[in-house]
Amino acid sequence: MKTIIITGGCGFIGGHFIRLINRLTDWRVVNVDKLTYAGSVNGIGNLQEGQRYRFIKADIVDRDRMSSLFAEEKPWAVVNFAAESHVDRSILDPGPFLQTNLIGVQILLDMARQYEVERFLQISTDEVYGDAEGKESFTEGSLLSPSSPYSSSKASADLLCLSYLRTYGLPVLVSRSTNNYGPHQYPEKLIPLMIRNAVLGQELPVYGDGLQRRDWISVEDNIQALYLILTEGKSGSIYNIGTETDVTNLEVVEEICLGVANDKGWEYEKLIASIRHIKDRPGHDRQYAVDTQKIRIELGWTPTTSFQSGIKSTVAWYLQNPSWETQSSDEDYQRYKEAVYSKQWGRSQN
Ligand code: NAD
Ligand code: TYD
Repeated sequence: MKTIIITGGCGFIGGHFIRLINRLTDWRVVNVDKLTYAGSVNGIGNLQEGQRYRFIKADIVDRDRMSSLFAEEKPWAVVNFAAESHVDRSILDPGPFLQTNLIGVQILLDMARQYEVERFLQISTDEVYGDAEGKESFTEGSLLSPSSPYSSSKASADLLCLSYLRTYGLPVLVSRSTNNYGPHQYPEKLIPLMIRNAVLGQELPVYGDGLQRRDWISVEDNIQALYLILTEGKSGSIYNIGTETDVTNLEVVEEICLGVANDKGWEYEKLIASIRHIKDRPGHDRQYAVDTQKIRIELGWTPTTSFQSGIKSTVAWYLQNPSWETQSSDEDYQRYKEAVYSKQWGRSQN
């Protein structure tokens, strides 16, 4: 039986990916996750520990731990989802981003090299290209010009991965997807945050004018693309993933208000009236836009979920699973929210 190490499998996208692998293959999955504030074992569904699934609570930055794990499991592939993933937190404190998103990747690359893995898929982001406003959509060969400590740490890791390909011949692949949405996302991210606040009758905090544009992809469409990249992608390749359509943040919030209003039988206009424009995120990218012809032509991938239907089912999931929201009741999250929403980006911005 082939073993695959998937890191960050207790996070949003990693959890969906593990369930997909469990459905589509007979591989043994070893899920390595530190269980930071963003990790939850609930996202894995009812996968049981056994021959086909093992959960290891560990930090990818812990070299000794990774070394003994790789020696024991001898995986054929590694997919690295583990990351500090929230731009706003990286603005408040870049330190953990450099540790996990760069040093952690170096350690995994070293292990992959030592144990001769056949595939190393680094999960990156379209944010490495930086702001797309007024520019052509970025292709995989476009210049990297990240704006935030988060996207800089991801861009640095991409370069490190590609250097291991060139220097050591390690078979790396890099995916760069646009913003994901769907069930099981931590409530600090735009879509679950707006659903939660709308349901609780709280303000809907929009950064700046809300006219920033994002290409939102359903997490199901993204994980299908990742599976294709892992199994059929050309070693050494980078693949952009996205829908090639975009909406403004205000349009996202309006769509969520519509979903909540319809589901609860509430007045749409009342929800819209809760929108509050607050101080903008420092260094905020106005737009992301990637050209996805490569994955469509080479691997035959195409997204299948429209933004409207995807948001509708996502809103329905959060309304049917209110306990997911309690993830955000811890003290750390309250402190974080205060720094962004009350102190408006903490002391340095006051
Ligand atoms: P997430 O924050 O929901 O999950 C991250 C997971 O990684 C958590 O379970 C956390 O416990 C774990 N983790 C963090 N540090 C770790 C460490 N040092 N060792 C082991 N585990 C650790 O993130 P997500 O939204 O699922 O994103 C997954 C990946 O996809 C990230 O690499 C992110 O950069 C990338 N990405 C995300 C999006 C998006 O819209 N969410 C878009 C493009 C790319
Ligand atoms: P986010 O989900 O944090 O993803 P990213 O910053 O990686 O694109 O945010 C999506 C967009 O929504 C981004 O332009 C910032 C904006 N936003 C708000 O306007 N208000 C909020 O409370 C949050 C969390 C995000």
